[in-house]
Amino acid sequence: METEVLSVREVDKAAEIIKRGGLVAMPTETVYGLAADALNGEAVAKIFRAKGRPMDNPLIVHIARVEQINELVSEFPEKARILAEKFWPGPLTIILPKSDRIPDEVSAGLDTVAVRLPGHAAARELIEKSCPLAAPSANLSGSPSPTTAGHVWQDMNGRIDAIIDGGACEVGVESTVISLAVDPPRLLRPGGITPAQLRDAIGEITVDSAVCHPLGEGQQAASPGMKYKHYAPKANVILIKGSAEAYIRYVNERQGKNAAAMCCDEDTEYITLPCISMGKENEHESHAQRIFSLLRLADERGYSTVYARCTGEDGVELAVYNRMLRASGFEVIDLEK
Ligand code: TXA
Ligand code: MG
Repeated sequence: METEVLSVREVDKAAEIIKRGGLVAMPTETVYGLAADALNGEAVAKIFRAKGRPMDNPLIVHIARVEQINELVSEFPEKARILAEKFWPGPLTIILPKSDRIPDEVSAGLDTVAVRLPGHAAARELIEKSCPLAAPSANLSGSPSPTTAGHVWQDMNGRIDAIIDGGACEVGVESTVISLAVDPPRLLRPGGITPAQLRDAIGEITVDSAVCHPLGEGQQAASPGMKYKHYAPKANVILIKGSAEAYIRYVNERQGKNAAAMCCDEDTEYITLPCISMGKENEHESHAQRIFSLLRLADERGYSTVYARCTGEDGVELAVYNRMLRASGFEVIDLEK
């Protein structure tokens, strides 16, 4: 199959592909998504084949106007309305009991559905011109999520009908996922909207233990996506906790091993390994925006080991920490211990 690259002025063409049951990669403010008609089970099944995604991992349905949620869910409770009002369009996915219009391919056999109203104008235009769209991140299953059309091309060329090039994604990590199908609401995946922002809006929420810990033997994943190895580049990633000084000392003791340091701008002048920087230490949004492209860059440069600095676990940093735990397969060295 020939994969066509479209500009954001050619969304009409992309909408035609969707209506025929095809696959289009679209930009969102978080990461690129691989979209198909959410109410067409056959079209949705193609997403799983193109990505090599396990069929038991459900998809997020993207809408362009809040009213569109009504045909997708069987309940739209007050707390969900508040979150939608406050954070949509934006990087928040809300899980609710599904309506019977949702194909099994989307919900992977669960009785819930995940819904999001994305911030990127091209994504909303595509939905307006076609229909609600089921869309996981547009990477091959297991590899880092794509934050540019070029990343999508690397993974999906020849496997999908088209890519809309909407530039680099602003947020850079996938949306925050919260389930309102349980009480109190439970955070399943951290993202651009932080736990503090959610508590501010709706009061008590819990954070699923899988956000920061590997699943135990035989433990059920609340979010099936959390049980799979994720975001893993070919390089062996090791996540390092501790002060900047301790991190710098640690990486400088690791010469000649084809290794690189994934660090902050301020660290680079003291580090003798090749550096790939997440940005200034206190600019946490920049770390989120860059991590996936840095993981891809590490592979392009052929590093065999990446020593990644852990700069924090709060706010937006929780999302970065969660992705890096998975990229490292939970290989963490705590220099304070
Ligand atoms: O920012 C994002 O959310 C991006 C863009 C494209 O919108 N999409 C994305 O989709 O990250 P995906 O499929 O890569 O991640 C969706 C996550 C998975 O971990 C999946 O298991 C979980 O959400 N999920 C989806 N539906 C669910 C449901 N009904 N119950 C629990 N978890 C669900
Ligand atoms: Mg994904």
